[in-house]
Order: sequence, then C-alpha cells, then structure tokens
Amino acid sequence: MTRRFLFVLGSSRPDGNTELLARRAAEQLGPSVDQTWISLAEHPLPDFEDLRHDSDHLRPTDGTPALLLDATLAATDVVIVSPLYWYSVSAHVKRYLDHWSGWLRTPGVDFMATMAGRTLWGVTALAHEEAEVADPLVGTLSNSAAYLGMRFGGVLLGNSSKPGDVLRDAEALARAKTFFAGAAPLARFPYEADAA
Ligand SMILES: Cc1cc2nc3c(=O)[nH]c(=O)nc-3n(C[C@H](O)[C@H](O)[C@H](O)COP(=O)(O)O)c2cc1C
Repeated sequence: MTRRFLFVLGSSRPDGNTELLARRAAEQLGPSVDQTWISLAEHPLPDFEDLRHDSDHLRPTDGTPALLLDATLAATDVVIVSPLYWYSVSAHVKRYLDHWSGWLRTPGVDFMATMAGRTLWGVTALAHEEAEVADPLVGTLSNSAAYLGMRFGGVLLGNSSKPGDVLRDAEALARAKTFFAGAAPLARFPYEADAA
C-alpha cells in the first residue's frame, strides 16, 4: 500500500523551525511515499461549531474544511507540525483537531473507521531547553491517536526560538534522519499502557 503522508503545518509564521525540522525528516521518505503539505495559516479553518447534539454535521464540499477533510481521509500518515505554544499545540492545530469531532459525526464520512490503524506523528519546536515541558503536546497527540484507534509514532522535538535556530540543534537534525523509520505502535491511553 502506498504511504501518503499529510503534513499539517500549525505555525503562525511561514518557514518556521517546526516546518524546517519536519522537512528534514521528510527528506528521508522515499520517492514512493506521497507527501502533501498544508499550512493552516494559509488555509485557516473557521472556528469549530459544536453541532454534535443538535443536528447532523454536513460534509463540507468546498473551502478549507473540505480541503482538510479530504486530505486527512486520504492520508495513511498524518503529521502534526506544530510549534510548542503555551506547552501544547498551536491554536491552528487545536482548531484542526476540534474539526475532527465534527467529522466523527458527519454522516457518510466514517471518520473513526477510516482513521483507525493509520498513523499519527508529531513534530514540534520549542524554546525551552528541557524537552519534558512539551509533555502536554505529546499527550494531546498520543491520546487523540488512542481515541481514534490510530498508531502513534511519537513527537520529534527541536530546540529553537527565532526562525532558523533549529538548524543549529544537531541532535534534533540527527533524530530527524530516522524519525519516520521508527516504530509506530497502536496508541494507548496511559491507563491502558499500565495495564498491558
Ligand atoms: C504564542 C507562543 C507561545 C509559545 N509558547 C512556548 C512554550 O510554551 N514553551 C516554549 O518552550 N516555547 C514557546 N514558544 C516559542 C516557540 O515554540 C519557538 O519560538 C519555536 O521555535 C516556534 O516555532 P516556529 O518557528 O515553527 O513557529 C512560544 C511562541 C509563541 C509565539
């Protein structure tokens, strides 16, 4: 099966560190792997409106919601490329994930069944030196993958503040080389991992 990677770019600025790091990792994907890159800043989603318990969500047929839904459904691998903002994902990414809740309730989409078994990855850049401050972002992605029955490949972290800084983080660049070759087991909630 052809792997199709969707890179969802969540920085509020173009050519940021997170994208630079993700592109380094993506260089290692072979030519047989399809890559789609979508910047949420260039393709902003509307605020999510929770209609789950009032009426059915309708499948979007045009605009950014349709672009992102179709790209997400087509992807075998979804890569969340988000800077660390206030210890978690950026607002652009959070809004994209909120739309997943609508897609879960959209007749004819079968979002849960389609995403089950596919793989979620994360790439982030952060100014803080200690990587564990990104745990909330890692937990958001890991738990979201577990909820959907997806695999989780982990989060590639790089240290940076201003654009280009991450290219001086030699350890992050080294990790990028093998990141997508790493294991991506079925995601588990923390309480399930303890029971396993
Ligand atoms: C709104 C905002 C919130 C941020 N919050 C954090 C944070 O909680 N922890 C941290 O280490 N860095 C934080 N940063 C710094 C960015 O993560 C850092 O500059 C990163 O390199 C930005 O990635 P980008 O170049 O891809 O946009 C924040 C930056 C912004 C603009």
